[in-house]
Amino acid sequence: MGQLRGERPGRAGATRRIYLDLREQISAGVYAAGDRLPSSRALADELGVSRTTVTAAVDQLVSEGYVTSHQGAASRVSDMARSKPEHPRPAGHGPERPLSGYAGRVMALPIHYPERQQALEFDFRYGDIAAADFPTLLWRRAMNAALLRRRDSLSYAPPAGVAALRQELQGYLWRVRGIRCDPDQIVVVSGSQQALDLSARVLVDCGDPVVIENPCYAMARNVMAAAGADITAVRCDDAGILVEDLPRQGKSALAYVTPSHQFPLGGVLPQNRRELLLAWAYAEGAYIVEDDYDGEYRYDVKPIPPLFQSDQDRVIYVGTVSKTLSPALRLGYLVVPRPLIDVFVKCKQLADRHSPSLEQEALAILLATGSYERHVRKMRRSNAERRAALIAALTSCFGETIEIVGTSAGLHVVVWFRAIAAEHEARLVDVARAGGIGIYPVSPLYFDRKPALAGLILGYASLKPEQLRRGIETLALALKDFAASSQDGAAVEHGVRPGR
Ligand SMILES: Cc1ncc(COP(=O)(O)O)c(C=O)c1O
Repeated sequence: MGQLRGERPGRAGATRRIYLDLREQISAGVYAAGDRLPSSRALADELGVSRTTVTAAVDQLVSEGYVTSHQGAASRVSDMARSKPEHPRPAGHGPERPLSGYAGRVMALPIHYPERQQALEFDFRYGDIAAADFPTLLWRRAMNAALLRRRDSLSYAPPAGVAALRQELQGYLWRVRGIRCDPDQIVVVSGSQQALDLSARVLVDCGDPVVIENPCYAMARNVMAAAGADITAVRCDDAGILVEDLPRQGKSALAYVTPSHQFPLGGVLPQNRRELLLAWAYAEGAYIVEDDYDGEYRYDVKPIPPLFQSDQDRVIYVGTVSKTLSPALRLGYLVVPRPLIDVFVKCKQLADRHSPSLEQEALAILLATGSYERHVRKMRRSNAERRAALIAALTSCFGETIEIVGTSAGLHVVVWFRAIAAEHEARLVDVARAGGIGIYPVSPLYFDRKPALAGLILGYASLKPEQLRRGIETLALALKDFAASSQDGAAVEHGVRPGR
């Protein structure tokens, strides 16, 4: 409760105390309905406060209906105080009625918020990018300009996104990713995550078959599981999803894939598999959700155009600025087949009306001035250096005891320990953590058919090359005795592809 009616700030404590005491006494039956309250003068004398303080407390009780008061008559406890309905107190801390099926499924999922570990000197957490890489000055200028532009109309924006941004994104996607679409097909969303969530809402009913990759981006898998999808996780090898394993049941709703850079193994899906994947989608009547989360980062491979470019009827394209600017902006975009535009826009409007429009305007300005593409080129150069430093350090410190995969694109690599069995993965992480190094295991990203070997995803975009070198040297030291202490690792099958 805030300040009471009629009270001055200095009296707030005394008034509140008197109000609470009287209310409790009324609720506990010390005063029955119809009883007179002591006069304000009597209460003030008894409690050693001014009459105004007492009157403010009684006025509050009157306004809440506990007490009635008429001009010139004594204040009396009202009937309402007695007729307050009795209801059983909840036994525990849980919800008071059964939750929706959706909520039940969500609560059954392993959804974690990864807390930042302050004590870690070197954190190889994938998904992070360096704060120092953020173009603060450019962004501040663009935000100022956006604010000036919209000063007269800080009202709701279109649910599909600010027109200027959709127009700029159309040009960008054409120039950089070879995608030719209409601005109308672009829906600006709050990060890829919302794109995935909307795709599930639009296309998946409870029990519908859905294909994901194995291993898979956990947040995509969780979205599909929360929607109640009947999930088939299809194995991936070093080049991505194994299309021959796709289920052929004639009724799949969608397949979630990362063809530009399989998450987490890093494969770039070859053209023939892309064609087979599309043929599968047609045979199944399924849509393909193409997550192009880090398509801007490729190092020694030629870019393959996104699937969306080959087929605009079956493919839903998802992009984000989380890897180029910052995940904190929560800005992403969908490019959808024309017949799905209306439903996606309406679902987006129901979800949150629209994504923050000033940030959308600012991004549109960065795109229009060419600053965004210059920034991306700079980021690509910095990340290429980081990647080279990481690979060199891993090779020099671990040599033949590891296999590094997924190096040709993206912002992370996967490292398989040839002589450490997967069952030791958690201990590996603990030992590293004790040495101040954050490393992240691969096996939780497998839906089933877990790998035999211990594997790590090492993100490199948030550390400097020197930190990467020192981090890997420290890791090698921390793990010096590890392989020896997990001797059964020697019995692990080597070179099993895929699944390791
Ligand atoms: C596979 C994949 N997709 C998408 C994203 C980005 O998600 P968002 O745009 O919601 O920040 C990530 C981030 O790590 C990712 O790994």
